[in-house]
Amino acid sequence: MSEKVAVFDTTLRDGEQAAGTRLGSREKLTLARQLARLKVDIIEAGYPASSPEDFAAVQLLSREIEGPVICALSRAVPGDIEACGKALANARRPRIHTGIGVSDVHVAGKFRDPKYGKTMGEKKVKLIQMAVAAVKLARQYAEDVEFYAEDAGRADPAYLFEMLEAAIEAGATVVNIPDTTGYAVPEQFGALIRAIREKVPNIQRATISVHCHDDLGLAVANALAGVANGARQVEGTINGVGERAGNAALEEVVMAIRTRGDYFGVHTGVETREFCRTSRLVSDMLGMVVPPNKAVVGGNAFSHSSGIHVDGFLKDRETYEIMRPEDVGVLESRVVLTARTGRHGLRDRLEKLGYALSQEELDRTYHRFLIVADKKQEVFDEDLIAILHDEIHPVPETYHLDYLHSYSGTSAIPTATVRLGVGGEMKEGAAVGDGQVDAMCKAISVVTQTSAKLARYEIRAVTSGTEAMGEVTVQLEEGDRKVMGRGASTDVIEASAKAYIDGLNKLAAQFRGQERPGDTPG
Ligand code: KIV
Ligand code: ZN
Repeated sequence: MSEKVAVFDTTLRDGEQAAGTRLGSREKLTLARQLARLKVDIIEAGYPASSPEDFAAVQLLSREIEGPVICALSRAVPGDIEACGKALANARRPRIHTGIGVSDVHVAGKFRDPKYGKTMGEKKVKLIQMAVAAVKLARQYAEDVEFYAEDAGRADPAYLFEMLEAAIEAGATVVNIPDTTGYAVPEQFGALIRAIREKVPNIQRATISVHCHDDLGLAVANALAGVANGARQVEGTINGVGERAGNAALEEVVMAIRTRGDYFGVHTGVETREFCRTSRLVSDMLGMVVPPNKAVVGGNAFSHSSGIHVDGFLKDRETYEIMRPEDVGVLESRVVLTARTGRHGLRDRLEKLGYALSQEELDRTYHRFLIVADKKQEVFDEDLIAILHDEIHPVPETYHLDYLHSYSGTSAIPTATVRLGVGGEMKEGAAVGDGQVDAMCKAISVVTQTSAKLARYEIRAVTSGTEAMGEVTVQLEEGDRKVMGRGASTDVIEASAKAYIDGLNKLAAQFRGQERPGDTPG
């Protein structure tokens, strides 16, 4: 069996530090329950000394969450550590995460007050003393203490090794090597982890953790380089949310470890089928949209569109997919129909919709499909069905719209008058309704003497601007028959009337020669 890499989720702490986001304790609990379903090993619940709400959140998660370790963050300051200890008091498996800056920039900048020492040398000695005291104090509240060496990615390695050795000696069970500013590059970061294993004499007594930020877009690559070089805990957030450019995206790190098990030779305990659900929840709660092309959880991560790819994918999924969608909680891969999809993709989709076409019918449909696809970003199933009805199974025009007048206003009753061609005759009718569309549908029903139910109504703009072309799709039901009707116009009421009449024509074709549910016997 390969070695396990523990997964440390900090969505609720570092992730929530993303600009413009804030989670209350109830929201953190909802997310933590989902993280527990995802089976992460550690949930960093918050920074209790930072605010009463964060203290309450750590307390609540400590009480409610079973399974993962519940961790709380502190600086190497007694007050912070005591707050962690109190907030974690009811946790089944508590961990305190404490630490201090180690890079020269941090030592000189954050600890510039002479009380930490006058020279860099004095300050560095003082900071090691503070780290040791912090770990010792944290151990009084929890057996599990993680020590972070902040900004390790930019630190002088010799000082970092010294600091880590002292923290482990003081009782740290995990040593976290954060690339706080996202400065590292994978080869160098991997070498740093390897050097820690070689140069820190007591390193065997602690687990090495990696915590990478994404300022150069290298967080996931750096975290994986850490794992490849012996880190056995990896930290990150769902969707990569976090300070500035964010943290390493856990779904990417975990799926890389899983998909490239041949390379990394380790495993995690994560229930990867929960990734998609978790990603959506985080996106919703933090109000941060996931880009469609985001690895693993983006809306297009399992979509295929170009003809060459669709053709290969339909022959053998593995030609263009290295992960199975169901393994990350996506129902199935999607072939997106666009102008580049090609005949094979079109035929496959038509077959899935239940239409088996001859070569000649397919050619005609493909020709019409390309015309539609050139105007739209994506061709939907409803569009295909409409094309098929026009090309392959044209519907006779029982009803034809000749004239429409519709009237409405803030203090007027919506009214519609229509004139339709019905079997060679012109017929006119009017109705009032609950809105213009309702009035128009009722007027058409009066003229056609039909009783179809409008089960669905959708409108969307197919061009942009205030003169946009509106496309209306309706679903009509009569007895056990269901049909789609479509209509387009720059006037949405006219588009709606056309769609409604289109649907009625389809129903008329289907019921031709048969008794209709609304017909009176005799
Ligand atoms: O990025 C960082 O250094 C951190 C530490 C507090 C672990 O988030
Ligand atoms: Zn961080």
